[in-house]
Amino acid sequence: MSRNRLLVTGSSGLIGSEVCTWFAQAGYQVHGVDNNQRAQFFGEQGDTRWNQARLQRTLPEYVHHEVDIRDRAKVIAMVEEVRPSVIVHAAAQPSHDLAARIPFDDFDTNAVGTLNMVEAARQFAPESPFILMSTNKVYGDRPNTRHAMSSPTPSSPMAYRRRCPSISANIRCSAPQKWPRMSWSRSTDATSACRPVVFAAAA
Ligand SMILES: NC(=O)c1ccc[n+]([C@@H]2O[C@H](COP(=O)([O-])OP(=O)(O)OC[C@H]3O[C@@H](n4cnc5c(N)ncnc54)[C@H](O)[C@@H]3O)[C@@H](O)[C@H]2O)c1
Repeated sequence: MSRNRLLVTGSSGLIGSEVCTWFAQAGYQVHGVDNNQRAQFFGEQGDTRWNQARLQRTLPEYVHHEVDIRDRAKVIAMVEEVRPSVIVHAAAQPSHDLAARIPFDDFDTNAVGTLNMVEAARQFAPESPFILMSTNKVYGDRPNTRHAMSSPTPSSPMAYRRRCPSISANIRCSAPQKWPRMSWSRSTDATSACRPVVFAAAA
């Protein structure tokens, strides 16, 4: 496994594309994963192909993977092939309003897609940090206070569904088997700093 190989899901989105740029500048070979699902969620104005093209044009050695994170077999095959040294998972359905209108698509993306990524990491990148970009909305009406991971009060249907991968990941990192190391990151920190900020990690 390369020590400097980054896999970023949601690479064509707002957070994921900044993560790609930051790590590329830090010398990582960057593998981006995005299927332009944002255009399905938000229509033409949500189309992210321009950002994918920008990354392919500007980042040296950038590799794009046209993979739907809901497709478990493809996700696992991709992680087996890439063997990343770091994973940043930023692919998501990010709208609270939309989550209420498309509950199954939202769950399949935010919960099942994340579980697919975690399982692929467990199988083929168990030593690599896994950074999950979640949302402060899982903390309900106190989103900007630091909380223990065990005391969320989600404020919307999407926030509830976002807790599922968090709980699943939490269980996995506290299990006695050799699960991937999990790193928790507040996306608000990442947005303001334009880089992932790990505030808790478990071996
Ligand atoms: N942008 C913010 O200020 C902010 C704030 C709080 C939390 N977050 C969280 O950070 C994460 C990323 O947010 P964002 O603003 O970059 O969202 P975004 O919509 O800009 O990017 C998400 C990307 O994921 C891709 N994607 C969605 N479903 C996919 C699938 N099934 N397979 C492959 N790719 C898929 C989309 O095409 C899109 O490019 C989300 O979890 C979001 O809740 C962001």
